[in-house]
Amino acid sequence: MTLLEQIDTNRLPNHIAIIMDGNGRWAKQRGSGRIFGHQHGVDSVKAVTEGCAELGVKYLTLYAFSTENWQRPQEEVNALMELLLISLEEELPTLMENNIRLLSIGQLERLPEHLQVKMKSCQDKTAGNTGLSLVLALSYSSRWEIANAARDIAAEVAAGKITEKDITPEYFEQHLTTAHIPDPELMIRTSGELRISNFLLWQLAYTELYFSELNWPDFRKEELYKAIVEFQGRERRFGKISEQLEKNE
Ligand code: IPE
Ligand code: IPE
Ligand code: MG
Repeated sequence: MTLLEQIDTNRLPNHIAIIMDGNGRWAKQRGSGRIFGHQHGVDSVKAVTEGCAELGVKYLTLYAFSTENWQRPQEEVNALMELLLISLEEELPTLMENNIRLLSIGQLERLPEHLQVKMKSCQDKTAGNTGLSLVLALSYSSRWEIANAARDIAAEVAAGKITEKDITPEYFEQHLTTAHIPDPELMIRTSGELRISNFLLWQLAYTELYFSELNWPDFRKEELYKAIVEFQGRERRFGKISEQLEKNE
């Protein structure tokens, strides 16, 4: 049986989140500069997005640029911004054809102006699409997001709109940038690194984590299928015991 055939389409993860890591190392192994790796990483983005759309996954969140990534050499930051702009331009027709809606999370106001404009226009044009929602995390960091939510809620308390008793986990998460996006069921990180790097700290509370040794430019559809098959073999207990799950308690 192929990997694709092993996937139970009735039990797909609704939301897959990916830390796309290892572009620089992939390029270095080939004697090339880091930007060459990022360029090849775009092909993996296309393949994995297509794979998720074909399967019927509802949300795919891609960590494309973290708040901390602004500290990289200016040349690399510029190349990443340029690559993003070109990819959005080139991929818009494909997003439309495949009924994919583009969303974003992060401090988008920190992106170059022309990129902000492009993001906004792609999001507006794809807003009515009802297939996969592709969420790009750009200039995103989870601690920034959580601190922001706390600040907004504090202001509501100060203004007398709510009292501190109203602050529940459910209320809190409505103030995150992911308010209208369900939590991921599966989080994949490539390149063999075993860390979260400030990604969706709140939302990953009960997410199944999957780590691939492959660098992102080598992660294509088959690897996505492999991660989903492994995900489907896991028992998600959410604090309960196996026997309760069997009885649907
Ligand atoms: C991931 O690959 C892409 C971004 C963070 C933008 P890296 O650029 O982090 O590649 P490595 O981890 O240095 O190999
Ligand atoms: C995480 O990768 C951020 C993205 C994939 C966008 P990094 O390469 O920046 O993470 P660290 O520095 O290895 O933790
Ligand atoms: Mg990295």
